[in-house]
Amino acid sequence: MRLGLRSSGVNFRDFLIALGDSADYDVGLEGSGVVLEAADDVHGFAPGDRVMGQFSGAGPVVVVDHRRIARVPSGWTYAQAATVPAVFLTAYYALAHVARVNAGERVLVHAAAGGVGMAAVQLAKHWGLDVYATASPGKWDTLRSLGFEDDHIANSRTVEFEQKFSATTGGAGMDVVLDCLKEEFVDASLRLLPRGGRFIELGKADIRDPGEVAARHPGVYYHAFDPPRRRRLRNSIARYLASL
Ligand SMILES: NC(=O)c1ccc[n+]([C@@H]2O[C@H](COP(=O)([O-])OP(=O)(O)OC[C@H]3O[C@@H](n4cnc5c(N)ncnc54)[C@H](OP(=O)(O)O)[C@@H]3O)[C@@H](O)[C@H]2O)c1
Repeated sequence: MRLGLRSSGVNFRDFLIALGDSADYDVGLEGSGVVLEAADDVHGFAPGDRVMGQFSGAGPVVVVDHRRIARVPSGWTYAQAATVPAVFLTAYYALAHVARVNAGERVLVHAAAGGVGMAAVQLAKHWGLDVYATASPGKWDTLRSLGFEDDHIANSRTVEFEQKFSATTGGAGMDVVLDCLKEEFVDASLRLLPRGGRFIELGKADIRDPGEVAARHPGVYYHAFDPPRRRRLRNSIARYLASL
């Protein structure tokens, strides 16, 4: 399909590309707009439809795969719709498909004031999880405005969160950690799973070997993933929209 782009979502990866860290991709991986044209074998979309989704590139007209596009829910602006696909699909995939979270479980969301972090917080609270969050101290008011009490907030730039959240939970720690940090932050986060649990790595800077993690931290399931694609992504979009 050809899409008249109205808004483009800017992601962490776009900044890395702009800074010269990744020459493999072009800027732009999601957005929203109006369907201009659809191939004869594309069913379900017609010119004029307001849609959002994931695709490559940013410009007045982009070519999109209809399997990676969904209608914009009524009442959403183009700008709102453009910010949703990448962060919410990543958070949804991590929490629902990989970690298979259950209501009442404790989850630690690192960098919770960032894009994926805020999406993960919204989904986790929506599903009834007990959510703990880290962020730079300058962003703690953002977390408070999302409903966090201070005993559920810690600094993302020091490893004090380990001691604080261990004490807050009486030593029980978390059931799930959603991580994008590295090195001693990952070690401290793994120690917050003393009863076992799921450690989901979103970042690319410090990927561990799942077998080594399991050997050092009995009962911990470690999983790092790349952005979900094709059928998984389409199914995730459908499930996410159905859960709204
Ligand atoms: N695997 C996947 O499919 C997938 C998909 C999308 C994103 N990701 C990854 O998920 C992570 C978050 O992405 P995002 O789109 O949510 O990015 P974002 O909105 O830019 O948030 C990134 C956060 O990282 C935190 N951070 C911690 N240490 C940092 C440091 N030394 N320098 C800069 N920021 C630091 C910052 O929060 P504080 O200032 O509060 O610390 C910032 O809010 C990234 O690592 C990204 O690559 C993975």
